Parts: sequence; C-alpha cells; structure tokens
Amino acid sequence: MGFWSSSLCFMILILAFNQSQGTSAARHLGNETDLLAILDFKDKISQDPNGVLSSWNNSQHHCQWQGVSCDGKHQRVSGLNLLGQDLFGYVSSHIGNLTFLKFINLRHNRFYGEIPQEVGQLTRLRYLKLTNNSFGGEIPVNLSHCIQLKVIDALLNRLVGGIPFELDSLKNLEGLSFGKNNLTGEIPRSFGNLTSLRQIYLSYNNLKGPIPQELGQLTSLYSIGVDANYLSGTLPSSIYNISTLAGISASSNILQGNLPANMGLTLPNIQDFLLGGNQIEGTIPVSLANASLLEQLELSDNMLKGQVPTNFGNLHNLQWLGIGGNILGSNSAGDLDFIASLSNSSNLQSLLFRGNNFGGKLPAFKWNSSNMLDQLDLGLNQILGEVPLWLRDLNNLYYLATDNNFFSVPIPNILGKFQMLQE
Ligand SMILES: *[C@@H]1O[C@H](CO)[C@@H](O)[C@H](O)[C@H]1NC(C)=O
Ligand SMILES: *[C@@H]1O[C@H](CO)[C@@H](O)[C@H](O)[C@H]1NC(C)=O
Ligand SMILES: *[C@@H]1O[C@H](CO)[C@@H](O)[C@H](O)[C@H]1NC(C)=O
Ligand SMILES: *[C@@H]1O[C@H](CO)[C@@H](O)[C@H](O)[C@H]1NC(C)=O
Ligand SMILES: *[C@@H]1O[C@H](CO)[C@@H](O)[C@H](O)[C@H]1NC(C)=O
Ligand SMILES: *[C@@H]1O[C@H](CO)[C@@H](O)[C@H](O)[C@H]1NC(C)=O
Ligand SMILES: *[C@@H]1O[C@H](CO)[C@@H](O)[C@H](O)[C@H]1NC(C)=O
Ligand SMILES: *[C@@H]1O[C@H](CO)[C@@H](O)[C@H](O)[C@H]1NC(C)=O
Ligand SMILES: *[C@@H]1O[C@H](CO)[C@@H](O)[C@H](O)[C@H]1NC(C)=O
Ligand SMILES: *[C@@H]1O[C@H](CO)[C@@H](O)[C@H](O)[C@H]1NC(C)=O
Ligand SMILES: *[C@@H]1O[C@H](CO)[C@@H](O)[C@H](O)[C@H]1NC(C)=O
Repeated sequence: MGFWSSSLCFMILILAFNQSQGTSAARHLGNETDLLAILDFKDKISQDPNGVLSSWNNSQHHCQWQGVSCDGKHQRVSGLNLLGQDLFGYVSSHIGNLTFLKFINLRHNRFYGEIPQEVGQLTRLRYLKLTNNSFGGEIPVNLSHCIQLKVIDALLNRLVGGIPFELDSLKNLEGLSFGKNNLTGEIPRSFGNLTSLRQIYLSYNNLKGPIPQELGQLTSLYSIGVDANYLSGTLPSSIYNISTLAGISASSNILQGNLPANMGLTLPNIQDFLLGGNQIEGTIPVSLANASLLEQLELSDNMLKGQVPTNFGNLHNLQWLGIGGNILGSNSAGDLDFIASLSNSSNLQSLLFRGNNFGGKLPAFKWNSSNMLDQLDLGLNQILGEVPLWLRDLNNLYYLATDNNFFSVPIPNILGKFQMLQE
C-alpha cells in the first residue's frame, strides 16, 4: 500500500514538474527529436529509385519534405506517406520517437525486416498501412499499445508466427488485415472484444483451429475474410447473427457443418457468401432468396445435397452462383428447374454446377433477353435429352462446358454460331 501511494505521489510530482517548465523548450526538443528520427529513417533506406528522399535535405524544413506531414500547431511530424515509391530498406527503430505520428503509409514498396517493436510508442497512431512489402518476422506485440489505431493493414508481406491476442486492446480498430502472409496459430478469441471492427481479413495464411464463436460479438462487422487457411470446425452460428455483414469469405478451409436454414433472414445485408472448398453438408437454404442484396454465392466443392431452391429468381443482384462439385440433385426429372427460375436474373454472369448428380432434361423456357450470362458449366452430370435452343439466346456467353452428360445430339452441331465456345 505504502509503495503504491508513494509512487503515485512521485508521478504527480513529475507531471507537475513537466508542466511548470516552459512548453517552448519541450516543443523545441520535440521537433529536434523528430528531425533526428526522420533522418535515421532515411538512413535505413538503401534504394530510392524515384529520388523521393532527395528532397529530405537541409535546404528546407523537414515539414516540407516530400511525404512528410506536420501538425500545424506544434510542427511535429504527424504523417509519413511514401506510397508506391519502390523504396528498398528497413524501418528504423527510431520511428518510435516520432511520437506525434498519426498515419504511416508505406504501401507498395520493398521494405523488409521486422516491423519494429518501437511502433508501440506511437500512441497517437491511427493508420498503419504496410500492404505489399516484404516485412518479415512476427507481428510486434507492442502494437497493442497504439490504442488510437483505426486501421492496421499489413496485407501481402512475409509475417510469420501467431497473431498476438494482446491486439484486443485496440478498441478503436475498424480495419484489420494480415491477409497473404505466412501466419500460423489460431485466430485469437480475444478479437471478439474489438467492438469497433468493421473489416477483418486474414485470408491466405496458415491459420488453423476454429473460427472463434466470440467474433459473433462484433456487431458492426461488415466483412470477414479467412479464405485459404486450415480453419476447422463449423462457421460459428454467432457469425450468422451479425446482421450488418455484407461479406463472408471462408473458402478453401476444412469447415464442416450445415448452412443454417434461416441464414437468409439473419443476414439481410449479405452480398458475398463464399464458402467453396470446404466440407459443408446438408442443403442450400431456401431462405437465401430473402437476402435480396446477394451478389455472389459460392458453395462449390462441398458435400451439399438435395435440390437447388427455385426461388433465387428474386435475387436481382445475383451475379455468381457456384455450386459445382457437390452431390446436388437426385438424377431425376425436375433437378434442373432452378435454371428456369433464374430467367429474369438479368445480372447473373456465372452459373456453374459442374460435377453434381443432376439428371433429367434441361428445362425449356425463355431467358430475359437482356441477360448477362457469360459462363455456364453444366458438365459432369447425368443430364439427358436435347440441348435446348435457349443456349442460342445467351449472347454474352464465352465459356460453355456441357461435357460428360447424356445429351442425344452433340452440342456444337446445335450451337452453330458458337463454334468458338469451348465444350
Ligand atoms: C524547433 O522549434 C523551435 C521553436 O519553435 C525552432 O526555433 C526550431 O527551428 C525548430 N527546429 C526544427 C528542426 O524544426
Ligand atoms: C534538396 O531538396 C530540394 C527540394 O526540397 C531539391 O530541390 C534539391 O535538389 C535537393 N538537394 C539535393 C542536393 O538533392
Ligand atoms: C530515438 O530512438 C532510438 C531507438 O529507439 C534511441 O536509441 C534514441 O536515443 C532515441 N532518441 C533520439 C533523440 O534520437
Ligand atoms: C506491389 O508493389 C509493386 C511495386 O513495388 C507493384 O508493381 C505491384 O503491382 C504491387 N502488387 C500488388 C499485388 O499490388
Ligand atoms: C514494448 O512494450 C513493453 C511493455 O509492454 C515495454 O516494456 C517495452 O519497452 C516496449 N518495447 C519497445 C521497443 O518499445
Ligand atoms: C510459410 O512457412 C512455411 C513453414 O513455416 C514454409 O514452409 C513456407 O515456405 C512459407 N511460405 C511462404 C510463402 O513464405
Ligand atoms: C474481453 O474483455 C473482457 C473485459 O476486458 C475480458 O474479461 C474478457 O476476457 C475478454 N474476452 C476475451 C475472449 O479475451
Ligand atoms: C442469434 O440471435 C437470436 C435472436 O437475437 C438469439 O436468440 C440467438 O441466441 C443468437 N444465436 C447465437 C448463436 O448467437
Ligand atoms: C422470404 O421470402 C419469401 C418468398 O420467397 C416470402 O414469402 C417471405 O415472406 C420472406 N420472409 C421474410 C421474413 O421476409
Ligand atoms: C419473369 O418476369 C415475368 C414478367 O414480370 C414474369 O411473368 C415471370 O413469371 C418471371 N419469371 C420468373 C421465373 O420469375
Ligand atoms: C429483364 O432485364 C431488364 C434489364 O435488367 C429488366 O429491366 C427487366 O425488368 C427484366 N425483365 C424481367 C421480366 O425481369
């Protein structure tokens, strides 16, 4: 008790001392520190093919240097914007001395080495944008001290190791991207506490384990991308409850379970639902037709069975329907009725249902003449009979595959004008 109360007095003393000193001296020291730090930052960049750093010389105040922004009042460095300058080098640990930094944008350069732990000293930092460099090593745990951070964007680098659970301290974080790195371990459960988060993108890493149920607490979430990892278990039911979600992208994992029957009602704003290349079972929910903003539905290469709903014609924005590589259909008449139900889907571009158990004949109907369909893959099914003439009405078609079915007449003979189409 004594220790705590006396050290508290000590801290108050220090604060009082700092305030009683003239602030101009402190500011003076501050801007000199900025200059030293920024010169060291320059020093660690060994190639500058565009010569952007040649303006970083003493003919002008450092606040005038290209890519350097200063806070008007204190003339402290508040931003570094060196987007797309082909810079090659590593980031100086002195960056931690630029304590007034609010944004760092080093996107599309060739920075390598680690993101220095010293960034944790940048407690005013809001935007950290590092996309498309060669940053390696682990994500610095000390980033968790930058509690003003709104965006961390480290897409497309060479980061390894786990994602620090400590980042759950970043209560202002709206966007988080560590996609296209080489991260391992699990998605931290603590991220359910990042309540400002709107976008999270962790695709193309080596993450394993479950997608945490806790992410369902992120009630402002707009999109979540976790494709191409080794995530297992089910897509948590809590995620289907986030009504703000416009994008769920979790293709190419080892996810199991069923799609909830009411998902089209609990996800009224969903635009992209991409779950291809997993081990999803059960049927395609009829309620998806109620998700009226749906643009892309990708469920290929799973273990879905049953019939495809015949009410997707209500989805006026639907562009992509990918359901190939499942066990849909029952090798009988009526299996393909869903195609006719899409006749008014004037934005549909890709209709891909290769490799299922669809039988019977292709339905006879008429496409809305303004259809956009450009890819149609119905190969490797059990489809019988003649190829209907509606194929000729698909004026935008450039990819057609009908192979490995039981059509009575070879397709190219019927198509005539579509000789260039691939069968
Ligand atoms: C720092 O600020 C002081 C006081 O405003 C000024 O005299 C000095 O030139 C500044 N130095 C730099 C490097 O900006
Ligand atoms: C110093 O920077 C100025 C622009 O701020 C530039 O015009 C000048 O060429 C630079 N000097 C050298 C030696 O690069
Ligand atoms: C700035 O940061 C570096 C490394 O973090 C440190 O060694 C240096 O003493 C700091 N201070 C100044 C004034 O450069
Ligand atoms: C990455 O940046 C380089 C320039 O450094 C650019 O040529 C390349 O197109 C960028 N890649 C991506 C995927 O944006
Ligand atoms: C990282 O944060 C810890 C406290 O969590 C601190 O002791 C350490 O000095 C920080 N490291 C750097 C390099 O700033
Ligand atoms: C990712 O890491 C694994 C092992 O840690 C390694 O085998 C693999 O080559 C790395 N991939 C990339 C793209 O760096
Ligand atoms: C979320 O934050 C609360 C309060 O800070 C804490 O008790 C809880 O353990 C955190 N949840 C996770 C999953 O880290
Ligand atoms: C989803 O929301 C409903 C209604 O608010 C609630 O009853 C249910 O428990 C929630 N499910 C999950 C898994 O969060
Ligand atoms: C869902 O769509 C169907 C028609 O496809 C409609 O009858 C039903 O009322 C809709 N449900 C809700 C909750 O909007
Ligand atoms: C397409 O629209 C027409 C005119 O509104 C309507 O009569 C027809 O039933 C619709 N077809 C489908 C399959 O929804
Ligand atoms: C056919 O498509 C056009 C263009 O998108 C649209 O205006 C029209 O309503 C559609 N017809 C039907 C019957 O949906």
